[in-house]
Amino acid sequence: MLFRQTLLFLSRRKELEEFLKRNPMARQASSRYVAGDTRREALEVTRRLNEEGFRVTLDYLGEEVADEAQSRAATEEYAGALEEAASLGLNAGVSVKLSHLGVRIDKDLAIENLMAIAARAARVGRFVRVDMEGSDLTETTLEIIRRVHGVHDNVGAVIQSYLRRSSADIEELIREKIPVRLVKGAYLEPEDVAFQDTEEIDLYFMRLLESLLRDGFRPAIATHDEKLIEYAVDMAFIYSRDEQEYEFQMLYGIRRDLQKKLLEDGCRVRIYLPYGEDWYGYFMRRLAERPANLWFLLKNLKR
Ligand code: 2OP
Repeated sequence: MLFRQTLLFLSRRKELEEFLKRNPMARQASSRYVAGDTRREALEVTRRLNEEGFRVTLDYLGEEVADEAQSRAATEEYAGALEEAASLGLNAGVSVKLSHLGVRIDKDLAIENLMAIAARAARVGRFVRVDMEGSDLTETTLEIIRRVHGVHDNVGAVIQSYLRRSSADIEELIREKIPVRLVKGAYLEPEDVAFQDTEEIDLYFMRLLESLLRDGFRPAIATHDEKLIEYAVDMAFIYSRDEQEYEFQMLYGIRRDLQKKLLEDGCRVRIYLPYGEDWYGYFMRRLAERPANLWFLLKNLKR
């Protein structure tokens, strides 16, 4: 637990970011989770995953941008990637972070950017998921999603089961017919807003999952936890949800065996596929989830 907290703390340290980004071993370790630096590489991996039967959501890596120009560049990259994926006939949407679209600089800037991505996605029949970030952004993120969803309904939200507030949020989103992706949550959060105990987080996940599979619109269940996946399959059966009415989502490079198995069982599986040069924060959150990867990294860092 302390270990996870340390890694999540370090995930926000610029000095370490500069150091690791220049280190070839760290780059190599991160590449396990990332399609590549460029859109071309991401679309190539998308094509391969589609051929295997997976759907994809593309994450153009980046968060906490410092200026408006960066947020506009991210917006353009997202819209361009969606259009190119569509023109290639690929089955892919995108996942965006509002801190990447400038929400910390100006809320209206993020709304404008998300509107632009959603509009261009709608034109090519694609979906835009808004990732959830730290709990200081939860309220604003939900507010912005509602605003944009009122204009373009191809936008969806994420609910994190470690947050105590999530049952109220999920009920509201279900009522509004806004699609939800359910996750456990990957950020460092204080005790008063988030459960710290993994068992508590899992139990809450099950409770939220039941609501989502009973009443949710296009539910997505994003976990690598096999017992929660089994629980989801049971709930879908109880509430007579067809395998095509909901989907599982998993991160690129994590539990490939499980990804394949679910597909073979006839489930829909979407792979969250990051690309781009800004991999540090994403990579550190993955290390915090799976410390074994850290030992590999540290052993090789000296070279
Ligand atoms: C993250 O960026 C997957 O959205 C999640 O860590």
